Amino acid sequence: MTCSMFLVTYAGAALLLAARVSSALNFTVSNGQIYTPGLVIVNAPQPSTPLGGDTIEVALDVSANGRLPLPPYPEDSPSVIHFIHIFLSSYDTNRNLTITNGTASANNASLSDIMLQEPGSTVKHVKWTWPDCLVGDGSQQQGLGETDRGAYNVSIRQSFRLNGQDHYTVFDLPISVSNSIPASDSRPSCDVLDNPLLTPEEILASADAMSVMFAPGDATTLQTSRSGAGSLRRGLGWAGLAGLCAALIM
Ligand SMILES: *[C@@H]1O[C@H](CO)[C@@H](O)[C@H](O)[C@H]1NC(C)=O
Ligand SMILES: *[C@@H]1O[C@H](CO)[C@@H](O)[C@H](O)[C@H]1NC(C)=O
Ligand SMILES: *[C@@H]1O[C@H](CO)[C@@H](O)[C@H](O)[C@H]1NC(C)=O
Ligand SMILES: *[C@@H]1O[C@H](CO)[C@@H](O)[C@H](O)[C@H]1NC(C)=O
Ligand SMILES: *[C@@H]1O[C@H](CO)[C@@H](O)[C@H](O)[C@H]1NC(C)=O
Repeated sequence: MTCSMFLVTYAGAALLLAARVSSALNFTVSNGQIYTPGLVIVNAPQPSTPLGGDTIEVALDVSANGRLPLPPYPEDSPSVIHFIHIFLSSYDTNRNLTITNGTASANNASLSDIMLQEPGSTVKHVKWTWPDCLVGDGSQQQGLGETDRGAYNVSIRQSFRLNGQDHYTVFDLPISVSNSIPASDSRPSCDVLDNPLLTPEEILASADAMSVMFAPGDATTLQTSRSGAGSLRRGLGWAGLAGLCAALIM
């Protein structure tokens, strides 16, 4: 049996409900992983999935599939993730809700630094309670009273250093908030989580234009340590020791 890798780059016109929506969907997906212009690889959700339930779970591999060690990074590491911020935003509903900006708000309505959760795990399962304006069943017009249900982007913002150079990129993953989300007194307020919406032009200007990395066949290499000794000093264990041995043999 050969071990085959599936690399699917699909480009499709999203001919959604309204004719004015005709943005092209163009994602690089391999074995269910969605590659981004950065060190993060998305395991879930898949593009254009209808979502609901009590929470949304965004599963992110933060190790570039094993190429990047977890923090704390060695001080001199040429490649690190500075932070990952995630927003749930929509030009249809004019909402821009904070999922995580590094600082937890009351009752974890927005979440603290996701790099620190699940220590030891290269995949961070970011679980966020749907806030009140998304309660309902069906799409936008079918909520309970006023709702902001409908088409959204899970907007993943990465600040990172790749091989000595700092970058900031934006990756928008479309989802549809259209499955049932039950009402509950414990749902956070959308208004408290809301941020101003910037125009697409402003966002383009604020971010680096990079193509997706680390998909099968991509030649990007990731430098993680300048010296084996540096890794060892920071207690990276066997990986650090192996680095040191390699340095000594040479
Ligand atoms: C999602 O983001 C893309 C740009 O990355 C934008 O064109 C699209 O309008 C956004 N979708 C919604 C529902 O706001
Ligand atoms: C918020 O999340 C953090 C980390 O996941 C957890 O330790 C803390 O108990 C949570 N706080 C509340 C009020 O739920
Ligand atoms: C993080 O997001 C919360 C909720 O939107 C907001 O109240 C807080 O001011 C934000 N913090 C920073 C540092 O942006
Ligand atoms: C949503 O708000 C955040 C924080 O203010 C901002 O960085 C981001 O660009 C905004 N997203 C959109 C689509 O305007
Ligand atoms: C899809 O994205 C890839 C790289 O990110 C790019 O080379 C290609 O031209 C894009 N295709 C379409 C149809 O936009």
